[in-house]
Amino acid sequence: MEQNVSLLGRDILDIESLTQDEIELIMSTAQEMKKIMKSGMKKVDYLKGKSIITLFYEASTRTRTSFESAGKYLGADVVNINTASSSVTKGECLRDTVLVLENMDCDAVVIRTPLEGASAYAAKIGKPIVINAGDGAHAHPSQALLDLFTLYEVGKNDLKGKKMVIVGDILYSRVARSNIAMWKKFGADIHVCGPMTLLPHDIAALGVTVDKKVEDALHDADVVDVLRIQLERQKSGLFPTPREYSRQYGVNDERLKLCKQDVTVLHPGPMNRGLEISYGVGYCENAAIRTQVNNGVAVRMALLYLTLKGR
Ligand code: CP
Repeated sequence: MEQNVSLLGRDILDIESLTQDEIELIMSTAQEMKKIMKSGMKKVDYLKGKSIITLFYEASTRTRTSFESAGKYLGADVVNINTASSSVTKGECLRDTVLVLENMDCDAVVIRTPLEGASAYAAKIGKPIVINAGDGAHAHPSQALLDLFTLYEVGKNDLKGKKMVIVGDILYSRVARSNIAMWKKFGADIHVCGPMTLLPHDIAALGVTVDKKVEDALHDADVVDVLRIQLERQKSGLFPTPREYSRQYGVNDERLKLCKQDVTVLHPGPMNRGLEISYGVGYCENAAIRTQVNNGVAVRMALLYLTLKGR
């Protein structure tokens, strides 16, 4: 079925709008891209002549750099706009900024903004393909795709009935929303756990089980996705103190023992080590956190290739 699937010319805005076949196509293409990364060549001309611009209104290390690396490995020209030193500081709005990029004949814009829906808005304005690199608490599709790719790599390529647990700051997490959307498509048994103040009021509508105690959530888990406490987004008082949060919800060595022996630990990064995740868990054998970073490049190569060049 994959043979008839194409993402050519498509904006990548969220997981919900991708079909299972499209996701599988991204997975198989990322596998090929990883071979290029590992070949020692890291430079092919598949996207020669294509121009990609990253437009980040929020800080990023992994996502921005991996999109840049991905574009460059594939031979595209990549320009990064640092909004702090761009005309955004003079008040230029997103609409005008996207039109400026379009008039520079850019083929794809990778956008991160704090505003939910801003990437979808940008996609309606101009001709360039838009890839959402995170919009507020709404969506981070490339993260969910790289997480899935990482699970496939460790042999978890059938998520049906698997216990997938998300612990932490669900309220502000675009990663949680995109992973929930992804894992639901593949029939996983999704559990979430975090302080009531960090759970969306309509969380049950997402079709997940809410566990009050982290021990219940982690019991027999196949996958644990530990979310970063987004201190920069929180109004004060959502949990008593970082120490209290860590005591009640932190994923540590003791709690990890409650999971299945072959549990895979994910974390989108950057980690607040000692807060939501212990030093030991962050670097344990079951942690795929550094692999996630590496896979982020392969998956983003696949996204750029499939949307700009086709199969
Ligand atoms: N996972 C993630 O989005 O990390 P960055 O904020 O470093 O891009």
